[in-house]
Amino acid sequence: MQFRTRAIHVGQKHDATTGAIVPPIHLASTFVQPDASMSAEYDYARTASPTRRNFETTLAALDNGTRALAFASGMAATHCVTQLLVPGDHIVTGTDIYGGTWRLFHKVLAQHGITLTAVDTCDTDAVARAVTPATRLIWVESPGNPLLSITDIAACAEIAQRSGALLACDNTIATPVLSRPLDLGADIVMHSATKYLGGHSDLLGGALVVRDAELGKKLHWMQNATGGVMGPLESFLCSRGVKTLELRVLAQSATALALAAWLQSHPRVAKVHYPGLASHPGHARAAGQMSGGFGGIVSFEVAGDVALARKVVESTKLFQLAVSLGAVESLIELPAVMSHGSYEPAARRAVGIADGLIRLSVGLEACEDLRADLAAALG
Ligand SMILES: Cc1ncc(COP(=O)(O)O)c(C=O)c1O
Repeated sequence: MQFRTRAIHVGQKHDATTGAIVPPIHLASTFVQPDASMSAEYDYARTASPTRRNFETTLAALDNGTRALAFASGMAATHCVTQLLVPGDHIVTGTDIYGGTWRLFHKVLAQHGITLTAVDTCDTDAVARAVTPATRLIWVESPGNPLLSITDIAACAEIAQRSGALLACDNTIATPVLSRPLDLGADIVMHSATKYLGGHSDLLGGALVVRDAELGKKLHWMQNATGGVMGPLESFLCSRGVKTLELRVLAQSATALALAAWLQSHPRVAKVHYPGLASHPGHARAAGQMSGGFGGIVSFEVAGDVALARKVVESTKLFQLAVSLGAVESLIELPAVMSHGSYEPAARRAVGIADGLIRLSVGLEACEDLRADLAAALG
């Protein structure tokens, strides 16, 4: 089945009891057992629940995995991966990553004896050089956030395999529509389901997808032991969201490309970061490992100081000033003080996230309306 058919039919059977075309939301926290020593398919909702499992089954099929696990948030999913590590273990990660992931890796894991080397993961040699005998995890985000840098996922998978580490890929921005890291050799795909999977700014969720059954078992054990699972309502909303995922992401990517090209020629814009532009350093790599488009996120810098950038993000009307991304409504933000405010300022500037960088999450509004909104704000 093609992607959009799987998104609608896999894991989403009609309800056998009533014939309802949409599977019901099961709110039950506990399930009756046939006898005291044996449980049926479900026993307690932290371990598994029907509505969550429906979404997990669909998502595993979309990312070409064998198993997906749904979490209470993207950070809960990321944290679960890091809980496979023990004191003394080492992580290699990118510099162009979500601010919350940066905080977890740099601030929280350090307290638990896990060390970290952050490199520009677009530079595959730098990734290889950063690996030590203690490296257990390589964590990449492609396209990165907020600079939309492109990491060679297959090359990083080879490095991980050679060194006995796991390669995890944050696929939030690309979504399984545009990129399937498991096919490129990654061991784990992570999503903030809050973004494109949900797609409507009305839920918080996360997910992991794997191909290897043993790794899936380990992660599920850890998820059940630590408890950060996705609730039934969020699971239902994610199942509904992914039914239109392909349509939304392709449309958002087309609008984002048109806006990026227009911004690039605007006299008040100094620099545009969008992997769909030939001028982007990762363009060829993105064209090779992504399909269908380059995503709905565009970053740019205005010619002038931070005050001007602030004025732009506070002036748009359709692009609403808010963190997050991936929903039907367009958003605008200043990463330095918003989505990436948890970076240390010096570390943030050092990796090229300028104080005045503006990030757009392009929604499903008409392209000409969005362009007019940006034109008015830049004017
Ligand atoms: C790329 C990326 N990864 C992970 C996360 C964390 O996800 P959540 O906010 O659902 O915990 C975010 C949130 O903004 C994100 O943008």
